[in-house]
Amino acid sequence: MLKFKTQHLEKFILDAEISMIQPMVTVADEMLRKGIGAGSAYTDWLHLPTEYDKDEFARIQAAAKKIQSDSKVLVVIGIGGSYLGARAAIDFLNEYFNNYLPDEQRDFPQVLFVGNSIAPAYLNSLINVIGDRDFSVNVISKSGTTTEPAIAFRVFKQMLEEKYGVVGARERIYATTDAKRGALKTLADTEGYEEFVVPDGVGGRFSVLTAVGLLPIATAGGDIEQLMAGAAAGEVEYADADLAKNPAYQYAAYRNILYRKGYTTELLINYDPTLLQFGEWWKQLQGESEGKDGKGIFPATGNFSTDLHSFGQYIQDGRRNLFETLFRVTEPVTDVVIPEMDADDGLGYLQGEKMSYVNRTASEGTLLAHVDGGVPNMIVEVDKQNEFSLGQAIYFFEVAVAISGYLNGINPFDQPGVEAYKRNMFGLLGKPGYEDITYQLQQRL
Ligand code: PA5
Repeated sequence: MLKFKTQHLEKFILDAEISMIQPMVTVADEMLRKGIGAGSAYTDWLHLPTEYDKDEFARIQAAAKKIQSDSKVLVVIGIGGSYLGARAAIDFLNEYFNNYLPDEQRDFPQVLFVGNSIAPAYLNSLINVIGDRDFSVNVISKSGTTTEPAIAFRVFKQMLEEKYGVVGARERIYATTDAKRGALKTLADTEGYEEFVVPDGVGGRFSVLTAVGLLPIATAGGDIEQLMAGAAAGEVEYADADLAKNPAYQYAAYRNILYRKGYTTELLINYDPTLLQFGEWWKQLQGESEGKDGKGIFPATGNFSTDLHSFGQYIQDGRRNLFETLFRVTEPVTDVVIPEMDADDGLGYLQGEKMSYVNRTASEGTLLAHVDGGVPNMIVEVDKQNEFSLGQAIYFFEVAVAISGYLNGINPFDQPGVEAYKRNMFGLLGKPGYEDITYQLQQRL
């Protein structure tokens, strides 16, 4: 089960501040639950853990089984909300170097992500990694028009057709997109790909519990029923408007109180590389939901203890506008006992101890040092690194960011700022319809 801990906020937030923000939380809750807040057309993720399309869910499970039986690699093509959740989940649920293992040592296909950049070297390198192994493609784009995945899809569609023929390729392409609109939808209909839907009322960054996340996660061996069960537990637990009874709302309220005091950057901290991609998913969820209208908490991550040896100095001693949320799992998946050694390397006092104990202690020591250095700290803790915990954590952060956005007076469900770079890119690349800005932009370069 997920626990939210705030004991280290004592010197930063008064109890009275919590009581005073409750009425605002109540209003934010009504905006969200009654569908009267900005962006309410995109709140279907709220009931997704219980009201998902069961027939499609069964098709996802069947497709995952088929891919497992006929492919050594699943290439997942998507960017932003169309890949971050799946990537986070697959890292969370597997041992870190799973993807590097040879096929005979892996139980499920290797899942590789592409179309999340426009870097040719990355794409070519990924093609080299596939080699002559059997593969399938899951192309994911809600709009169906995003440039990065569209370029990658052209490349992999061609590769599949060369390897398996046009008909064989169609049987290895799975398209996850809008139910009615977009270039990908049209292409999938024409070619006859198996299709999965990103529901209208679920924005990209809230879509991990739809086919967007579920097909890659299931293909990689994840138990998606347990994932949904964990999220469903969150749906029940994080539904109360009363702050005292709702840890997700508490998190939203505390971070808003901190923001108003000048703590404008939040670091999601982990002490395990398998949680690193969860931080990337969280960064998009927070940043795209809250960073608008000239305000919002800047989301960043700290991968500790690694980063303590890079920007740890800044956290301890730099500008005091930071706060941290430690995301941790209490039960280690595996452990290492620190070996005994005759020679004196200064580690004698730790021999025979478990590495997980040292890691946990490092996190506690760091947290206290940062608090003493003026960095408020909260803890989000799950007991096990499994599908249920992950589902609950996903739902926790989704609900929290919705409430947090309303508390800060913005629409947490749009992303108008994402269009600015696309417009310039299209203008410079000469996309039809953008001719008016091409010359003007070229002059500025
Ligand atoms: O959260 C969002 O809406 C975005 O990050 C999108 O997921 C991202 O831009 C990809 O869009 P699409 O799925 O339409 O290709």
